[in-house]
Amino acid sequence: MSLEDKIQKDFLPKHLAVIMDGNGRWAKQKGKLRVFGHENGTKAVRQTVEACAELGIENLTLYAFSTENWNRPKLEVDALMKLLVSSLRKELNLLQENNIRLQAIGALDSLPKKAKKELFEVIEKTKDNARMTLTLALSYGSREELKNAVKEICYKVKNNIISLESIDESIINEHLYTQNLPDVDLLIRTSGEHRISNFLLWQIAYAELYFTNVLWPDFSKEHLYEALINYQNRERRFGKTSEQIN
Ligand code: IPE
Ligand code: IPE
Ligand code: MG
Repeated sequence: MSLEDKIQKDFLPKHLAVIMDGNGRWAKQKGKLRVFGHENGTKAVRQTVEACAELGIENLTLYAFSTENWNRPKLEVDALMKLLVSSLRKELNLLQENNIRLQAIGALDSLPKKAKKELFEVIEKTKDNARMTLTLALSYGSREELKNAVKEICYKVKNNIISLESIDESIINEHLYTQNLPDVDLLIRTSGEHRISNFLLWQIAYAELYFTNVLWPDFSKEHLYEALINYQNRERRFGKTSEQIN
C-alpha cells in the first residue's frame, strides 16, 4: 500500500497551512547563494499545490513572505520579488488545469508594482476556479492583520455602524484577511524550527502542528502524505475528554 493510499479521503484537513522554511540553509549546504534555495523552493510549492488539489483539500495557505522578511538584505528581497513575478507567470497553467483559485493575504500594497500587477492578474483569471483555494501569504504578519481588524471594528463602533455588544468571535473573523477561510486544521513547518513566526495566530487556535526537519526545497508529495497520515492519527479534542469524542 502506498503512502497516498493510506490517507482517508473523507477526513482531510479543510484548511492546510504551511510555513515553507529552510531555503537558505538548503542552498548553503550545497555551497550556493540563498537565492538558489528560493528558486528550488518553487518546485516544492508546485508539488504541494498539485498534491493538495489531487487529494481534495479545499484550502491551502502558503506563507511565502512575512512582514519581517522585508528586513532581509535588499538583494535577497529583490530576488524574492522577482521570483514571485516569474512563478506567477509560470504557474498560471497549473492553477487553471487543476481548477485552483488564487488569493493573497497580507499588506499587498507594500509589494513592488510589477509583483502586484502580476498577482492581481492571476487572481482575476482564476477567480471562478472552484476545486481549491490557494492563498499566498505575502508581506503577511498576523499582528498587523489583528491590528487592522481592531482598528476597523473600533471605527465601526465609533460611527454606530455596529454596537459594542455585538462584537463576538465571528465579527473578529470577518475583519481578518482570512474571512472567507475556515480555521486552520493542520499547520506544517519545514526546516526543524519549532515556532510560528507571526503566522495566522488567531486562525491556528486549535490547529494540529506538524514539524519536520526536511528543508523546504526537498519537501515532496510523499512528505506531505506523511504529514496528513500523522494528522489523521491524532485525536482532536477541542477541550473535551477522549470519552466524549469516541
Ligand atoms: C523560507 O526560507 C523562505 C522565506 C522566508 C522567504 P528561508 O529563506 O527562511 O531559509 P532559512 O530559514 O534561512 O534556511
Ligand atoms: C517564516 O520564515 C516566514 C516564511 C516562511 C515566509 P522565517 O525564516 O522568516 O522565520 P524566522 O525568522 O526564522 O522565525
Ligand atoms: Mg527561515
